[in-house]
Amino acid sequence: MAVRRVLITGSSSGIGAATAILLAKQGYAVWITYTSGKAAAHEVAAQCRAAGAAKVHVSPLDLRSPTAIDALVADVTESWGELHVLVNNGGVCPYQGYDEISIDDWDAVMETNGRGTFLLSRACLPLLRAAEANTPGIDRVIINLSSVAGQVGAITTGMHYAASKGAILAITRSFARILASEHIRVNAVTPGPITSAITDNLSEAARTSLEQTIPLGHFGEPEDVAWVISGLASPQARFVTGVTYDVNGGTRID
Ligand SMILES: NC(=O)c1ccc[n+]([C@@H]2O[C@H](COP(=O)([O-])OP(=O)(O)OC[C@H]3O[C@@H](n4cnc5c(N)ncnc54)[C@H](OP(=O)(O)O)[C@@H]3O)[C@@H](O)[C@H]2O)c1
Repeated sequence: MAVRRVLITGSSSGIGAATAILLAKQGYAVWITYTSGKAAAHEVAAQCRAAGAAKVHVSPLDLRSPTAIDALVADVTESWGELHVLVNNGGVCPYQGYDEISIDDWDAVMETNGRGTFLLSRACLPLLRAAEANTPGIDRVIINLSSVAGQVGAITTGMHYAASKGAILAITRSFARILASEHIRVNAVTPGPITSAITDNLSEAARTSLEQTIPLGHFGEPEDVAWVISGLASPQARFVTGVTYDVNGGTRID
């Protein structure tokens, strides 16, 4: 059976790291990216190797930089020549009130989370198509990390963050429609509050008050989101595209 190859952005910590380790346990070849956390990324890579990954690569990536995106895709093309799963997970979440957001703050969040997801997805299409050429009928999927903030608007997070995560939902649905005829699936995951470096930035008071809004009564763990990502990445999800999959402890029930 062909090895499934996954590229996970922002996999030096949190949800991305948990996803890399879970998919490694399932025998995937895993490509990890980091921005500032080089040592952490190499630690995740070691855990992936120990977990049984078919292959592990580590690269720097700043999603704000189109040049860096192209350089990463060139490296994946040279080493693998194909890709089965892209997880657009890397992102930033500054906690700023709407009246504190400068133009530069707005652009930094939109460029990282929104534009980065679009540019990397588009740049990876030749790799996803190459996988089908190499193994006709093989399942391929893009999974985008949005947020409950992209669905209901900013609650605790900044409005620029909520806007970028709403953009990711629109990008997900657009690509899902465009790529369905090629059998490339595109789905979004919308976590609620999850324990990670992002939520570690909350004050104790903000964290407590946010926790009280979660019907299941506690923050989720990165592994809770990784499990859903791994399900969407599986060929068994071959009829699932264009969906938004909530992992939010009941924060948004409709
Ligand atoms: N935690 C939550 O409550 C929550 C809720 C909803 C959605 N999400 C989404 O889940 C995803 C993962 O977040 P997390 O909670 O796991 O937080 P995290 O532990 O802070 O992980 C964020 C990852 O993104 C990377 N990153 C930061 N800036 C980047 C850039 N400019 N280009 C590329 N990658 C960059 C970080 O790399 P370095 O550490 O190496 O710099 C890190 O690996 C994010 O998209 C986030 O918006 C999280």
